[in-house]
Amino acid sequence: MSAPKTPAAPPCTLFLFGASGDLVKRLLMPALYNLSRDGLLDRNLRIVGVDHNESTAQAFAERLHDFLAERDAGGEGAPSSLDKKLWASLAKRLDYQTGDFLSADTYQAVGERIAQTEHGNAIFYLATSPRFFPEVAKRLGESGLLDESAGGFRRIVVEKPFGTDLASAQALNACLLSVMSERQIYRIDHYLGKETVQNILVSRFSNGLFESFWNNHYIDHVQITAAETVGVETRGAFYDNTGALRDMVPNHLFQLLAMVAMEPPAAFGADAVRGEKAKVIGAIRPWSSKLALKNSVRGQYAAGKQGRKALGGYREEDNVEPASQTETYVALKVMIDNWRWAGVPFYLRTGKRMSVRDTEIAICFKPAPYAQFRDSALARPKPNYLKIQIQPNEGMWFDLQAKRPGPELITQNVELGFAYKDFFQMTPATGYETLIYDCLTGDQTLFQRADNIENGWRAVQPFLDAWAQGGEVHEYPAGEDGPAAGDELLTRDKRQWHDLG
Ligand code: BG6
Repeated sequence: MSAPKTPAAPPCTLFLFGASGDLVKRLLMPALYNLSRDGLLDRNLRIVGVDHNESTAQAFAERLHDFLAERDAGGEGAPSSLDKKLWASLAKRLDYQTGDFLSADTYQAVGERIAQTEHGNAIFYLATSPRFFPEVAKRLGESGLLDESAGGFRRIVVEKPFGTDLASAQALNACLLSVMSERQIYRIDHYLGKETVQNILVSRFSNGLFESFWNNHYIDHVQITAAETVGVETRGAFYDNTGALRDMVPNHLFQLLAMVAMEPPAAFGADAVRGEKAKVIGAIRPWSSKLALKNSVRGQYAAGKQGRKALGGYREEDNVEPASQTETYVALKVMIDNWRWAGVPFYLRTGKRMSVRDTEIAICFKPAPYAQFRDSALARPKPNYLKIQIQPNEGMWFDLQAKRPGPELITQNVELGFAYKDFFQMTPATGYETLIYDCLTGDQTLFQRADNIENGWRAVQPFLDAWAQGGEVHEYPAGEDGPAAGDELLTRDKRQWHDLG
C-alpha cells in the first residue's frame, strides 16, 4: 500500500519581513519552491516580501529567480535545474511591499492585503535583523494584526538568534507574549528541520531495543559534535559579537541533546514533546563560576591549512577585531541531574575551520563488566559506540569488536550500520520545507517554546558569566580539530573524543 498523500497546507498570506536579506533568497525561497514542487502549497497561498527598500513584485521575483537559477546543483536544497513552469507558478504568488518596519503605514498596508483575502490567514516571518524582532511584533500587535477573533489564524515566525543571554531571551519572550499567545509563536531552530534530527526521536521511541540500554546503567557518556570546515565567511561582524557558544550551543546542540536525553513524551503532540524537552534541558546542572571554567574550553582558529590550501586566522577575517577574544570553538562538559542520566557526562563541542564537516552524536557504552579474555590482548576491550551522524553522511552505526579470522585472538572494529542513502531517496532540501509546512498547518512540535529557549540560556549563562571574568582562549590551527585543551577536557576523565568523519 502506498503512503497516504500529504495534503496541501491551508491558504494564507505569508509576509516575509526582511525580504531583501540572505535568508529569504538562500533558504526560504528554495524551500517554498520545493514545497510547491511537491504540491504542498494551496492555490491561494501568497508570499509578500516586506522591506524598506523601494522595489516591485516583478523585481523581487526576478532577484529570487536569478539567485535560484544560478545556484550550484545540490547546494543547500537548491533545485538542480530550475523548472520554468514551476517557477512561473510560484512567481505568480509573489508580491512586494515597500515599508519601514517602524512605520505605522507599513502595518496598515499589510492589514489591507489581509483584508482582501477570504481566508484572513496570515503568517509574519521575521527574517530581519534581531533588533527588529520586538519592534515588528509590537507593531503587529498594536495594529490588531495578531487578533484571530475574526476566524483567520495569525502566526509569527522568529528566526535565530533568540536573545544573546538569559535576560535578553526572557525580555524578548515577554515582549512577544504581551501581544500574542504562545500558540501563535513559531521560534525556529533549523536543526529541527533536519530529517536526521527528527529521526532520533522516531528511532528511540519506535524501536523497543533502544530503551533497554538508554540510561546510566549502560551508557558511560555522550558526545555531541558539530564540526564545520567553513570559517566565519561574510558574517564577521555578527560572529565577533556572538561566538561559538551563543551561535550553536543553547539552540542547535541543546536540541540534539534534548532529542537524545528526553523522556518518552506521553503523545507525539507539540505540548507533550516540548514539555519533555524543556524538562531535560532544565535538568542541566548550573555550574558554579569555578566549575564553569573548569568544564569549558574556548578556542580561536589561527592561520593553518586545509589540505594544501593555506587559511588565514580568525583575526584576519573581514569585520573581526584584530585583537578579538571571540571563541570560534567551544567544548563543554555538562551533567543532567535526573534519574536516567545521573553520573553520565555529556561532552559538547563545536568549531569553525575544523578538519572535516561532521555533525554527530556518539553514545559511548560502558565496557563489558568482566575481562573474559584476560590473558589475551582483549583484557581491556574498547568501548562500543553508537554513532548517529546528522550530516553529511547521514545514518547510524554501532561500533563492535569482532574476532579477526585466524588462530590468534585478535579483535577488529566492525560496524553495524544504516546509511540513509541506502534506504531512502534523499531529495535536496533546505530543512526549512518541513518547518514552513508545519507553520502553515499549525503544528508547533518542531518549534521552540518559551521555556525551551529560556532553559537553554539558563544552562549556558554560567559559562558566559565565568568567561566574562577571565579564562583563556586557546589558539588552534585552522584545519585542525580544536585546541589541545579541548582534548584534555576528556582525557582528564580518562576518555577521548570519538574520531571525526
Ligand atoms: C547557524 C549558525 O545557526 O548554523 C552558523 O549561525 C552555522 O554559524 C550554522 O554555520 C550551521 O548549520 P548547519 O545546518 O550547516 O549545520
